Amino acid sequence: ATKGEMPIDPLRMVAKEMKFLTGNIRHLLGSGHPSLDRAAKYYTQAEGKHMRPMIVLLMSRATALCPKASQPDPSETTQRINAAISPSGVLRDANPSAPLAGFSSDPESVESDILPSQRRLAEITELIHTASLLHDDVIDHSVSRRGSPSANLEFGNKMAVLAGDFMLGRASVALARLRNAEVVELLATVIANLVEGEFMQLKNTARDERNPKWSEETLTYYLDKTYLKTASLISKSCRAAALLGRADATTVEAAYAYGKNLGLAFQLVDDMLDYTKSDKDLGKPAGADLELGLATAPLLFAWKTIPELGQLVGRKFEQEGDAARARELVFQSDGIEQTRALAEDYCRQAVAALDLFPDSEAKDGLVEMAMKTLRRQK
Ligand code: FPP
Ligand code: MG
Ligand code: MG
Repeated sequence: ATKGEMPIDPLRMVAKEMKFLTGNIRHLLGSGHPSLDRAAKYYTQAEGKHMRPMIVLLMSRATALCPKASQPDPSETTQRINAAISPSGVLRDANPSAPLAGFSSDPESVESDILPSQRRLAEITELIHTASLLHDDVIDHSVSRRGSPSANLEFGNKMAVLAGDFMLGRASVALARLRNAEVVELLATVIANLVEGEFMQLKNTARDERNPKWSEETLTYYLDKTYLKTASLISKSCRAAALLGRADATTVEAAYAYGKNLGLAFQLVDDMLDYTKSDKDLGKPAGADLELGLATAPLLFAWKTIPELGQLVGRKFEQEGDAARARELVFQSDGIEQTRALAEDYCRQAVAALDLFPDSEAKDGLVEMAMKTLRRQK
């Protein structure tokens, strides 16, 4: 389609593949234990944004047109990965030579430029993300998610944590069946990175002092944490998508750079919306970060010009009135505007990373995903 004629809709470009995403994920999560089954599938009921799998699918399609690596894929069984799920949803023992079973797809899509392994990667990416949300809602004592009661509220902390663990287990099985050691290593690293990011977030600053002073390190720490917590999953799954498509090294790096910059922009916008939106707008509690003691980008930028925020950061906004005072100071500063500007900058870098890709509808879709990230209201 010519630009300007029709608005670019990234979802339309991978709609055929997306149609099977939730069903396939629920299939991967099947358990013979009824309450585990219910808890594990709970967050797949409400329609999530599915931003991560969409990016993986668009990246798969966009990189299909890029130069290929000269080395052959070490695993020629990649296309058989979808075997070994019985109709009851219980995973059988690995059998790499089994036919493609239990993997719903449109018969037409056999000719698609998106490989079955890349679709499976999109599902695994969403599984890891959803598992992290189950754990996150326990850690954050969150009561709502995607406009419904959170899993911890619905099932209790113990079941929510175990459902998240189960999900990671099933994601790992599906990942192993891709028969690509580099991709397994990437996604396993993501799981470790999510935990590292969450640990960094438990402290607001690198040295965890009582009365910290603002320094350039304040922002570095926040951005490192943000990479681990959010951008690692997006960037490494983009990288994995390119690898599964046997793209050459330059393309693989570009895919990674796109995901990394987009992931950073995504979290900056998230941290901004936490200040500017209501619970109802977001479908989850707003203003949650200060309540949780977290100093995110808007506050860190405000702190640079308002040193009194240091004390509040140091005691994690826990005294009566701290959160309200911090909020007021953020709105007096240009913290929100600076956060937006930084998010825009990362978006520009994400789009620039795609420069070397040949023009395609999927590439336009990836550019549009970056623009959507800046425009989103929830
Ligand atoms: C949402 O952040 C949470 C994350 C991006 C990652 C959370 C990671 C963990 C809990 C580590 C354990 C994860 C695994 C997979 C073992 P948020 O709380 O800022 O966003 P929210 O407003 O959507 O809750
Ligand atoms: Mg949370
Ligand atoms: Mg959290």
